[in-house]
Amino acid sequence: MEKLRIMSVFGTRPEAIKMAPLVRELAGRADIASLCCVTAQHRQMLDSVLEVFSLTPDRDLDIMTPRQTLSTITAKCLTGMDAAVEELQPDMILVHGDTSTTFAGALSAFYHKVPVGHVEAGLRTYDKYSPYPEEMNRKLVTAIADLYFCPTENNRQNLLREGVTEGLFVTGNTVIDALQTTVRKDYVFAADSLNRLPWDSKKIVLVTCHRRENYGQPMEDIMTALADIARTHRDVELVYPVHLSPVVQECARRNLGDIENVHLIAPLAADEMHNLMARCYLALTDSGGLQEEAPALGKPVLVLRRETERPEAVEAGTVKLAGVERDAIADMAHTLLTDSAAYQAMARAVNPYGDGRACRRIADAILWHFGRGDRPEDFRA
Ligand code: UD1
Ligand code: UDP
Repeated sequence: MEKLRIMSVFGTRPEAIKMAPLVRELAGRADIASLCCVTAQHRQMLDSVLEVFSLTPDRDLDIMTPRQTLSTITAKCLTGMDAAVEELQPDMILVHGDTSTTFAGALSAFYHKVPVGHVEAGLRTYDKYSPYPEEMNRKLVTAIADLYFCPTENNRQNLLREGVTEGLFVTGNTVIDALQTTVRKDYVFAADSLNRLPWDSKKIVLVTCHRRENYGQPMEDIMTALADIARTHRDVELVYPVHLSPVVQECARRNLGDIENVHLIAPLAADEMHNLMARCYLALTDSGGLQEEAPALGKPVLVLRRETERPEAVEAGTVKLAGVERDAIADMAHTLLTDSAAYQAMARAVNPYGDGRACRRIADAILWHFGRGDRPEDFRA
């Protein structure tokens, strides 16, 4: 029997981190030819992940431009995908999550009448503009997809309520699979500045912030809150690997650039980041991925957003929504930095997002779909 040609399409840092273990799992299956097409919606931040996970794409669309717009990303992905699909002739295309690459990848698959598997399906806030444009991207991909790999049962329920009744699998999130390959107790940072942080004498607080819906006043208020936290708590060091978006770079440098206990550093390679997270005291973030990773590592998270499509860790008590108002963020951080009972209540390792076997389930589900194996058991938290 001919091998199934399964083509994974991704383009940004988080998609790459979450798809890398799946590309590898597929490559290890005798019945599958694992193909990989990157749009390179992110360039440096994508290449860093490819290097950490030793992945060499079969096609690289190399679309990134400085200050790119949603329209240009989508248009360039669609055009580039035409040739990739025609040349690689996939039997199925896998897209991940909710970026512009995800949407364009799924739409291109549809134009070529190739079935689509959606990894990380069923996340919702039900607010069209928040996160923007991600909520709409994932809804549009739901309309196109044939197989839905939901990280949690809650995600599956979201899709059932929308009338999607076939092709649903609860797999866990592949980010937990990735994390299990990167985090090590004896890890030594490649960046000496991280080794030299005052780990024993200060609280190391990890910060990331990049979301488009926070551009403008919300991001100004978040940065001001971070400055307040750093100035009020001299026993704290804020470590902030700044996203390469020029909008974010400018806002972070203007508000935080001259504060002694704030370290604005370049984006970290995934293994550096995961090990930094494993050792930090607390994370302040608007990132989706960090909301999934930090709970697995037992680190409390304050989410710098008004809502989240990841309620599972909020329900488990290890993640709290801090919003985007200056005083609320500073107050919630103050509590976790000064009240050890409040801190301990949140600093528990929980695994609502996966058990490290998501990629195995997804590969099994694909083979089952094509009549070449058994249906996998769903992930249960
Ligand atoms: C994108 C995704 C978002 C995801 C985020 C992860 C969309 C619309 N947004 O947002 O869902 O949460 O990635 O980080 O798909 N840049 C570089 N080098 C890089 C990466 C980015 O210079 O390696 C700069 C470029 O100027 C680029 C800008 O950052 O134009 C913004 O990148 P873009 O992918 O458009 O948006 P993100 O905010 O990264
Ligand atoms: N990450 C990284 N280096 C950094 C910042 C984040 O490797 O400097 C990782 C992080 O651990 C997570 C992913 O990138 O796995 C999240 O990406 P991002 O926050 O850019 O996007 P989101 O998850 O919000 O879509």
